Amino acid sequence: MGDQAKLSVAGAEHDYAVLKGSVGPDVIDIRKLYAQTGAFTFDPGFTSTASCESALTYIDGDEGVLLHRGYPIGQLAENSSFMETSYLLLNGELPSKDELASFENTITRHTMLHEQLANFYRGFRRDAHPMAIMCGVVGALSAFYHDSTDISDPEHRKISSHRLIAKMPTIAAAAYKYSVGQPFVYPDNKLSYTGNFLRMTFGVPAEEYEVIPAVEKAMDRIFILHADHEQNASTSTVRLAGSSGANPFACIAAGIACLWGPAHGGANEAALNMLKEIGTPDRIQHYIDRAKDKNDPFRLMGFGHRVYKNYDPRATVMQSTVREVFDALKVNDPLFETALRLEEIALSDPYFAEKKLFPNVDFYSGIILSAIGFPTTMFTVLFALARTVGWVAQWNEMISDPGQKIGRPRQLYTGPTQRDYVPLDQR
Ligand code: SDX
Repeated sequence: MGDQAKLSVAGAEHDYAVLKGSVGPDVIDIRKLYAQTGAFTFDPGFTSTASCESALTYIDGDEGVLLHRGYPIGQLAENSSFMETSYLLLNGELPSKDELASFENTITRHTMLHEQLANFYRGFRRDAHPMAIMCGVVGALSAFYHDSTDISDPEHRKISSHRLIAKMPTIAAAAYKYSVGQPFVYPDNKLSYTGNFLRMTFGVPAEEYEVIPAVEKAMDRIFILHADHEQNASTSTVRLAGSSGANPFACIAAGIACLWGPAHGGANEAALNMLKEIGTPDRIQHYIDRAKDKNDPFRLMGFGHRVYKNYDPRATVMQSTVREVFDALKVNDPLFETALRLEEIALSDPYFAEKKLFPNVDFYSGIILSAIGFPTTMFTVLFALARTVGWVAQWNEMISDPGQKIGRPRQLYTGPTQRDYVPLDQR
């Protein structure tokens, strides 16, 4: 018998198995707790609860380690491509040359959207936030591709996964084009996944668009950095939505909605807006003081993380990518200096040191995306585009698990106990 944890409830002792992952903290299996004791556990925000078993991504938050299928994020960011990392996440192993070529070919051939979807965009106001458009259009995919929504059929699951990964750049670029009043640009199969996305976003039918290799590489790396991050809020949302048997397009739309919040993927937009508001380094201290003030709701955006109590390894890569993009585009954004200084001041402040608050993936990404030409409202869209592969891989992992059950948390009820209905004229 493996390790056991003992719990004493109302004078009776119960044993619970201690599960061991391949690496990481032990997990106490409390699935029988309610049946045995009549009690629930209480863990709002899931600070101590493993919601599932997964073999995709591992984070050691104390050491600042992030592994996809065992491979460190720094190595993937430096040597891999977003397509290769996507294959890795979906299939568990790095592809051979032929496997990668075949995967890229499949994804490339699914990039077009049903032509009628263009009409769907027209229902949105021109000033709609592109994340609002993303929630709507991605959810609507299930109305256009019903030939791949039978989740019990592995082939359907595979096709819908490929469709989602392939169409996301086309959908995201169209959301942008719609907001600036330019025509949608069709995908070009000669280009890479990321080159194609840049062309659909910044190209116009009137002239040839030239993809700048250094920008394409940086963008591709940003996609790798966002590809997956174990059981974060949006991924957990996708899993919970999927646990009821909902189709994958609907589940990914749910993930997009969750990602939008400023505490999650919306932080990249909020972080750049914050840097703009701070402006010059001489104003930083004022904002640091505000972030530390319990009575002020202001928080440093792009700072802090539920899991990382050390530097987010993605932020390190992101920071070094800023200069690369500036050099390639021959630009310089003074906000980068402000960001570097803000990081320096925050990290030397006891408040941030004690609470182990470090820059996260969202802190530097906005500066790069802004330099490439994206408006702030598109930042979270880009996060959603890249995270789609993680969502899809996690969803597939869950559906393929024969022991999968609908997610159904319980609660600590604090409302009124039973009482009798009072007719309106007696209240
Ligand atoms: C992402 O989970 C993932 O993996 C997400 C993600 C992914 O790839 O999927 O990594 C992407 O969502 C990154 C996080 C983006 N969000 C932000 O940058 C928003 C700013 N950060 C925070 O609001 C906050 O740090 C969270 C939401 C990221 C984490 O919240 P927790 O784990 O619930 O922590 P908390 O809010 O309880 O903070 C603990 C303490 C608090 O102080 P005390 O009440 O203990 O005194 O730290 C303080 C907080 O007030 N704190 C901050 C702070 N973040 C936390 N104080 C000032 N500025 C901050 N940014």
